[in-house]
Amino acid sequence: MSRALDELETLWSDSDLVARCRRVAEALFSLSSGTQHSPTPTREFSACDTTPPLDGRKEICGSSRVERIPFNRPYLVGKELFYISQAVLSGKLSGDGEFTKRCHAFLERRYAAQKVLLTTSCTTALEIAAILCRNEPGDEVIVPGFTFVSTANAFVTHGYKPVFVDIREDTLNMDERLLEAAITDRTRVICPVHYAGVACDMDPILKIARSRGIAVVEDAAQGVEAKYKDRALGTIGDLGAYSFHDTKNFVCGEGGALLVNREDFVERTEIIREKGTNRTQFFRGEAAKYTWLDVGGSYLPSEVLSAFLLAQLEAIDQIQARRAAIFNRYTAGLKPLQDQALIRLPYVPPYASGNNHIFYVLTETPDVRDNLLVFLRERGISAVFHYVPLHNSPAGLRWGRSSGTLKVVERTAATLLRLPMFLEITDEQIDRVVSAVHEFFRR
Ligand SMILES: Cc1ncc(COP(=O)(O)O)c(C=O)c1O
Repeated sequence: MSRALDELETLWSDSDLVARCRRVAEALFSLSSGTQHSPTPTREFSACDTTPPLDGRKEICGSSRVERIPFNRPYLVGKELFYISQAVLSGKLSGDGEFTKRCHAFLERRYAAQKVLLTTSCTTALEIAAILCRNEPGDEVIVPGFTFVSTANAFVTHGYKPVFVDIREDTLNMDERLLEAAITDRTRVICPVHYAGVACDMDPILKIARSRGIAVVEDAAQGVEAKYKDRALGTIGDLGAYSFHDTKNFVCGEGGALLVNREDFVERTEIIREKGTNRTQFFRGEAAKYTWLDVGGSYLPSEVLSAFLLAQLEAIDQIQARRAAIFNRYTAGLKPLQDQALIRLPYVPPYASGNNHIFYVLTETPDVRDNLLVFLRERGISAVFHYVPLHNSPAGLRWGRSSGTLKVVERTAATLLRLPMFLEITDEQIDRVVSAVHEFFRR
């Protein structure tokens, strides 16, 4: 078997073969989806174009001859199917095989992380964190009101009450100046979210948390490759969580990782992640048999997903270079509108270096945002809004509470628009989006 794999590895250094495999994958994709996969987006909706037309207004792109630019499209960098075939040939498809271990080693090395464990999603990584940090029912976790549901839901699932705080105007991240007022004697965790891969100001957050014995769990779902003062996001708090969902910079469909930055959490994390058993220790030869020791879940991704992910991780520099070019082209094209105070573009403070995950614009009013969204859609451009505030959602009202008013959250949710951002978007398509935004403001 290992000779066969060596031969395959040699074959794989042939770039023609990589290109051919990519074409096979695209053909398979076409067969299974009934659509044509092409690096140039077609008029088909991508699976990620989930935002429905506003107010029942009709999409007219279908009847025009312009090609629709999707909001997001997952992509192959080349080696994914090769690694998956290796995983299948290895005879082990369940979790924690060679590919999972290679992903762990890659992430630990690249981010100088103490311990990284792949999970089935960022949501489940946050759930493990919630289990690790909880003392008793009713413990509180402080989260920003502007985030994905999982930031709060992963904790609510494990008995916490989320306490929502407002965000900063500039980075759209948790406003650290509001933490003191949100803390009670039940506060166990502060969960900063690095929105769009731009770091929260971690030093003041850590200072407040440390002085009160509160854990910090970074929701770095969008923050892989981004930094706070030269430290990788996810490695700064007690725990950090990454996402490798289709919409992120590096993907495997559904996937995530937990970064365990405290030695005293490592053993229990391994147990919780393996259904509450010491199976991980048993496989390392550290226990004669494995048994049920703690609460836990089934949080390991299969080797098929890890194999896909490894291929993407190994292409990180290539992926990031293109994303930076896309981001810079949008910025250069739209800056004149920011200079005229018609829109606001993403802001990266001096303490952060971003990962070009999301390109958004903020408009002056909700009406402008909604009209711009419809205007772009009518020109075949799938721009989408983002989070609906959590603090006044039905579940947020039922399980959580707000600390103060969350005016910036509400305004941001109503005025933010994300522009198409995916690896294979072409310069011409970016220019089309930029021109359409200019045209909207010229009318
Ligand atoms: C801030 C944030 N947290 C958590 C998640 C959940 O990630 P996953 O889909 O990997 O569970 C997301 C997903 O987009 C997110 O944006």
